[in-house]
Amino acid sequence: MTSRFTRFDPTAIRSNPARVSESLRQQIQNSLQVCRETTLTLFEDIDYETFCRQAHPDFSPIGWHLGHIAYTEGLWMLEHLAQKAPQFPTYRRLFAADGLPKNERVRLPTLTEVRQYLESIRTQTFEYLAVAPIAGQERFWHWLIQHESQHSETIALVLQLQRWGSLEYKDSGIRPGIPLPTPPLAGRSASPNQWVSDSAEIAAPTSTDAMVQIPAGAFWQGNNGVEAQDNERPAHPVHLETYWIDRYPVTCRQYQEFIQAGGYRNASWWSSAGWQWLQDNPVKKPLYWSNNSVWDNHPVYGVSYYEAEAYARFVNKRLPSEAEWEKAARWNPHSQQSALFPWGEAEPSSQRCNYNCLVGHTTPVNAYPSGQSAYGCYDMLGNVWEWTQSWFEGYENFESYPYRGYSQAYFDGQHRVLRGGSWATPLFSLRSPFRNWYHPHVRQIFAGFRCARS
Ligand code: AVJ
Ligand code: FE
Repeated sequence: MTSRFTRFDPTAIRSNPARVSESLRQQIQNSLQVCRETTLTLFEDIDYETFCRQAHPDFSPIGWHLGHIAYTEGLWMLEHLAQKAPQFPTYRRLFAADGLPKNERVRLPTLTEVRQYLESIRTQTFEYLAVAPIAGQERFWHWLIQHESQHSETIALVLQLQRWGSLEYKDSGIRPGIPLPTPPLAGRSASPNQWVSDSAEIAAPTSTDAMVQIPAGAFWQGNNGVEAQDNERPAHPVHLETYWIDRYPVTCRQYQEFIQAGGYRNASWWSSAGWQWLQDNPVKKPLYWSNNSVWDNHPVYGVSYYEAEAYARFVNKRLPSEAEWEKAARWNPHSQQSALFPWGEAEPSSQRCNYNCLVGHTTPVNAYPSGQSAYGCYDMLGNVWEWTQSWFEGYENFESYPYRGYSQAYFDGQHRVLRGGSWATPLFSLRSPFRNWYHPHVRQIFAGFRCARS
């Protein structure tokens, strides 16, 4: 560790002048509103059948997620913080995470009723926010906003699952996606298929095989910022030996070589757990796959951890650990600091990455040169989540917040960490230290991967 490094205070990077000039109360209100608009935009033109349908046994209907967002706000902000009586007690059993099993969450109130529920809770939340002692509550408000933003992404993926299930998408060369009529946040307005037609103009990466060398040394992992989830804390130094990591996520063109070489039939590429999974789930290609070559330079996604792991072995590489991923994404070897985003401290924008359903599907892996990390890695935020080889665990001195079931209940050696966010991740969950986790067999999420090598 260099002396410069030890003097570095990871919290110092969090003072963003644009943020502090706005009053905190105003800023929280604004974020709550922006997040809600993002969520509700997904419900435009949704019929009641789509609202209630369970697209996959592991996922609840989108209408349930919407009610659960209101329930969580009522429980934590109104009951716990504002000390109000329980709101809409008859909804508790339906919309609490520990209420009904997922397959019984299909008899739901109408969209109009759930929107009224959201509105009623929100009105009271704003009344409380206007007088709340927010100085000591900032972390709690951040947590609430991120809770909604994560459910918002799940809603987008359940919608994609339903659309993908309808035959018209299957071999039409159209990838499913959630093309939004109007981008909910300021940014470029993208027509649904803009990136399909544009992709020819974006030069194919010189070589998507390119890897970046990350020299041995320490970096700061984790995040002590007020927006950090419990599982991101505390920030701590980690020493890594020299390693190599892919400059881009693995593309469809690359992954196709694995398919064509019989990768799904050859046990030698698979871990024993992976091969067992494949025998029980005889898949032959990623869930979100199209044979149309317009997608060649887009990241492959809709793969389980096991498929990612097998591909990595096929190309004589491996998946990165989450520390390796994080160092490549946010460590600046010149300033000896970890940034919140690959490009530094500036808030994400549509010039830097593909997020928040602004485009509505994946983009070519080299579409965002201004989103590169200090080491020159592309797409470290947005486009697709990336599987890492790490199990989800607490960092040393982890403390649960706001409740044990949020993260700690998943430190069970059964969940792998994903990093980086996807094309559907809202602003509030999009940052380099953010950690996501799923069982390794899950392939419905918007997850791809990149490889590493020692
Ligand atoms: C971290 C995305 C797996 O959706 O189950 C939502 C986040 N926790 N409500 C999930 C979460 C509580 C969580 N994931
Ligand atoms: Fe939740």
